[in-house]
Amino acid sequence: MAVAVVVVMLVVATVLFHFVSPWRATPLASNWQQMDDTLAITLVITGIFFVVISLFIAYTVFRFRHREGSKAAYQPENKKLERWLIGGTSVGIMALLAPGLLVYGDYITPPPDALTVEVLGQQWQWRYRLPGTDGKLGKTDVRYVSAANPFGIDPADPAGGNNVLVNSNELHLPLHKPVRMLLRSIDVLHDFYVPEFRARMNMVPGMVTTFWFTPTRVGRFEVLCAQLCGVAHYNMRGYVVVEDEPSYHAWLKGQPTFMTTMAATQAGQPALSERAIQGRSLAQSKGCVACHTTDGGSGVGPTWKGLFDKTETMADGSTAHVDEAYLKDFIRNPQSRVVKGFAPIMPKIEMSDDELAALVEYIKTFRATGPGTPRQRAEK
Ligand code: CUA
Repeated sequence: MAVAVVVVMLVVATVLFHFVSPWRATPLASNWQQMDDTLAITLVITGIFFVVISLFIAYTVFRFRHREGSKAAYQPENKKLERWLIGGTSVGIMALLAPGLLVYGDYITPPPDALTVEVLGQQWQWRYRLPGTDGKLGKTDVRYVSAANPFGIDPADPAGGNNVLVNSNELHLPLHKPVRMLLRSIDVLHDFYVPEFRARMNMVPGMVTTFWFTPTRVGRFEVLCAQLCGVAHYNMRGYVVVEDEPSYHAWLKGQPTFMTTMAATQAGQPALSERAIQGRSLAQSKGCVACHTTDGGSGVGPTWKGLFDKTETMADGSTAHVDEAYLKDFIRNPQSRVVKGFAPIMPKIEMSDDELAALVEYIKTFRATGPGTPRQRAEK
C-alpha cells in the first residue's frame, strides 16, 4: 500500500515540476522551431508512457498485494496482450523517431543561397573561416596544418588566398540570412552548440560535418562546446554576434585573409611568432582572457595592452618594472603581491615552464610600441 502511494506521489510531483519549474528553454533565435516541436512531441509521448506505466504499477501493487489465502496464477503466455504491447510500442517508437528524421533531413540540407562558414575546433578554442568574394573555400590538407596555418589551407590553391580567417572565438553573422556551417576538428571530438539557435553538431577529427540555420534575432549568443574534450572543455566557449547587414560587412572587412597572414609570415614579420600563438591558445584555454582584456578595456585584472615594459604601482605604494621576470613571478605566485586598484583574486594556474614562457611572449606582443607594430597590422 505504502509503495503504491509513493509511486503515485512521484508521478504527481514529476508532472507538477514540469509545469512550475523555472528552467525553460531560451527564446528561439533561429528558424529551427521544428527542433522545439520535435522535443515537445518526444516529451508528450514519453510523458504519457511514464504516467500510464507508473500508475499501472501503483494499481497492480495495490490490487494484487499479498493477502492471506490468495495464490498467484501461472500464465506463461498471452497472445492477445503481446500483440497489443508490440503494436503499441511500435507505433510509439515510430512516432518518436519519424519527426526527428524528417527534421534532420532539413537540418543538413542548406538552401542554395546560404552563406558558408567553416568552424575549426581545437583544444580549447574556436576559429572561423569564410570564403572571399568568389564564395569558395580553398582546399585544405593536414600536411599544411601548423601554428601559423591552423586550418591547413593549401597555399597553392588560388581559391584559398582570399579566405577570411577569424582569429578569435567570435563569429559575426548577418540577420535573416541562411548560413551553412562546415565543422572540422584539429585534434579531438568537439561539438559546436548555440542553445538559442537550437543547433549543434559534433566536430569529428578527419571529417567535415554540416548543418544550416537562419538567425532570426539580433544579439550575442554563446557558443558552447558540447563534447567533453579535455580539462579545459568547460572553458571552450565562443560567441556568435547576429547583426544587420552593414555592421556585418564592416566586421568582415576588418578580418585578415589567408593571403595577408601568409604574406606577413613570409616577409619575416610573422603576425605572431609560433611561441606567441601558443601563448594566445593558452590565454584562451587557461581562462586568462576572462579577466584580462588585450585592448585596454577594464577587466577584473589589469589589461595586457601596454602592460609589458610599464611601471606598475603596487597596493603598498611600491613600484615594479613589468619585465619577463615580473610576469613569470606574478603568474607563478599571484598572491605574493597586489597591484594597486585590483583585488587579490588571481588564481594560481598550473603551467609548465615552456607554457609560461609562451604566455609571457604573447603578453609581450601587446607592449606599447606605438602604431604599426606587426601584430596591429595583422590583427586590424
Ligand atoms: Cu571542445 Cu569540449
